[in-house]
Amino acid sequence: MDTLDMNIQHEKVMEKLDGTMLRKIYEQFSSAWAQKLQTQGNVPTFYDHVIKDGLTLFSMNIESIPWEKDLEDIILSVEHFASRQGIEMFISQMVNWYYGRYVLYDLRVQPNEMIQSSLDIDFLKKSARDTTFSMSQGYFDCLQWKDTILFKTVYDLAIYQMLMWELKPKTIIEIGSGTGGSAVWMADLMASYGIESKIISFDIIAPKIRYDNVTFLQGDCNHIDQIMKVAILEKMPKPWLLIEDAHVNVYGVLQHFHPLLQEGDYLIVEDSENKQKEINRFLKDTNKSYLVDAQYCDFFGHNMTCSYDSIFRKMK
Ligand SMILES: C[S@@+](CC[C@H](N)C(=O)[O-])C[C@H]1O[C@@H](n2cnc3c(N)ncnc32)[C@H](O)[C@@H]1O
Repeated sequence: MDTLDMNIQHEKVMEKLDGTMLRKIYEQFSSAWAQKLQTQGNVPTFYDHVIKDGLTLFSMNIESIPWEKDLEDIILSVEHFASRQGIEMFISQMVNWYYGRYVLYDLRVQPNEMIQSSLDIDFLKKSARDTTFSMSQGYFDCLQWKDTILFKTVYDLAIYQMLMWELKPKTIIEIGSGTGGSAVWMADLMASYGIESKIISFDIIAPKIRYDNVTFLQGDCNHIDQIMKVAILEKMPKPWLLIEDAHVNVYGVLQHFHPLLQEGDYLIVEDSENKQKEINRFLKDTNKSYLVDAQYCDFFGHNMTCSYDSIFRKMK
């Protein structure tokens, strides 16, 4: 942190944190969030949904919030729309963001003494309360691998690296590339393990990245059979790791790959809390050929993964 940044932060702390300042922070935060969402190709993280709710709360009440007053009055004016804890936490997040990346030590350990505010709120600590999993893709910015972002949670990154070492997949198929960061990360990980592995990553908008051992394919999951043709897929070396992360035509996609998967291959369905119906149908229709690998699903506690009961090993 250079002297200039330190001075800026001192100046920010000296401003009284009242309604007028909160409005300024809210407006800056709101446009920064819209911008960062754009850099994610408009793919939201779990915590982006929480931020969206917070911003909606403020934007819907923008006219009726008494911005000229103190924070306590502002919270009271919106309190009937959300829990006090949730509102405090959201304000806390915006204020944290406003103070920036490099923060004065004193501001972290005794924020209430430094910030002139009507509200007794420990801005820099409350924000992590009870939301561990929803923040596990990153609190504001997404996790990054080299120059690209990826949408994995920190738990899933750790689970994948163990699973990939154990499985040593020769082929990894990712349905839903996002920015391409996860395919690049997987390619690097396999290279660091000294395992020759090809990554095929499929998306309706293919990332414009070229990378060793990664092939990005463009197409729509609704017509997956037209791009990911069986005749080509069946030549790809085993074992396979298949990852469904596009959330479109999930049942159709799983059915497309089912005959190609062999015993010992892994199938992972990400962000699967809302996909249980399709998963259930798929498992029934495929005669329960897959078992949940509970060792990985529960590695950090019960289903502390985005692949909720959906890290599968093909058994037969
Ligand atoms: C959650 S992101 C994938 C994230 C990536 N696997 C990662 O871990 O970083 C979901 C992706 O699905 C893609 N998608 C959405 N609809 C699709 C469709 N009909 N066919 C193919 N891909 C689609 C989106 O473009 C988006 O990139």
